[in-house]
Amino acid sequence: MQNKKQNYGGAYVPEMLLPTLHAIEKELERALKDPAFIKEFQGLLKDFAGRPTPLTFAKNITEQFGGAKCYLKNEGLNHTGAHKITHCIGQALIAKRLGKTTLIAETGAGQHGLATATVAAKLGFKCKIFMGSEDMSRQRPNVFWMERLGAEVIPVTYGSRTLKDAVNEALKYWMQNLSDTHYVIGSVLGPSPYPRMNRVFQSVVGREVREQMKDFEGKLPDVVIACVGGGSNAMGIFSEFLNEKSVSLVAVEAGGVGNALGEHASKARSGELGIAQGYKSLFLQDNGQIAPTHSISAGLDYPGLGPELAALKEEGRVEFQSASDSETLSAVDLLARTEGIIPALESAHALAYAVKLLPTLAKEKIVVVNISGRGDKDLFLIARAMKDQSFRDFLLEEHQRYE
Ligand SMILES: Cc1ncc(COP(=O)(O)O)c(C=O)c1O
Repeated sequence: MQNKKQNYGGAYVPEMLLPTLHAIEKELERALKDPAFIKEFQGLLKDFAGRPTPLTFAKNITEQFGGAKCYLKNEGLNHTGAHKITHCIGQALIAKRLGKTTLIAETGAGQHGLATATVAAKLGFKCKIFMGSEDMSRQRPNVFWMERLGAEVIPVTYGSRTLKDAVNEALKYWMQNLSDTHYVIGSVLGPSPYPRMNRVFQSVVGREVREQMKDFEGKLPDVVIACVGGGSNAMGIFSEFLNEKSVSLVAVEAGGVGNALGEHASKARSGELGIAQGYKSLFLQDNGQIAPTHSISAGLDYPGLGPELAALKEEGRVEFQSASDSETLSAVDLLARTEGIIPALESAHALAYAVKLLPTLAKEKIVVVNISGRGDKDLFLIARAMKDQSFRDFLLEEHQRYE
């Protein structure tokens, strides 16, 4: 895909990283033409990750909201609970072909770190995960499981102590250990070739939706909606439909608690062109510095937009919307109670916008919402946000049992 006009993307990295990035790019091109690689990748997606994930007709939501039919692509049923495992498997196989023995990753919600630690365990890599200490406390269950999977989780204690700081620290470690280490970047961002590589691996999601939609309805969906942190689940489901002009593509960012800098993570609405963390794109900035962000979901709490998505915004091919923290929490409850699916907080942003759109569309229209992950990891956050007193009492009792 051409990143038009602003030349979004690129590889703005210290020169010493360029040979490694070129080697990854060359190996990726070779691998994508190698039937043995494709077979191994597809085999692991099917037999280990659990692909294809189901597309489910959301009958109750459709009836409740009137208007268009709503389908849910349930990526939460992937092994480790989200879409992230798909690009982790792809990158680990590339790392193996390059002779690397250690995988490192940054993580926000912990889903990408969990997926990387899982794949490292399965494919025999050593593993180090960099995580902001703020995210570590928000996502303790994922930290616990990453450690059980044999990964070392390294807290990053400077800056906002969230994802952007973890990215910086992972890049620093990588530059010091290039010979044996592959950096598994967790979204469609970072220096080239990462945005394309992760999009290519994630594009299986959109291909599955096309096939599944054929079986359900015999036609393409009219609207596809996905949440956006960096953009990997969105690009994964969108890329199959980019050339289908009848399909509207809607990306939903974190609207947080307000419109001021530091209260949200809506790059498309308030971001400015900039270069950070190895790529050129839209970033939330404050006088040229990366601005603090806020989202109830750690996975959307990131100041940069994947460069291919930024180009698609500029072309007008992808429409951007946002959902607030409180709309998102209501969407978690709604999906749980009406469809029996507990979504990740990230994914609930997409649903929060979808339920506003559904009643405005005609009955024959079809909307697909990407439910990028399941909500287990958010148990503590959601319980606290919903002020669930009995869960609080349980935690206090659990604390006593621990002593
Ligand atoms: C379940 C889930 N959905 C979405 C995201 C956001 O990432 P991306 O925009 O790359 O899909 C995350 C990030 O951790 C996640 O865990």
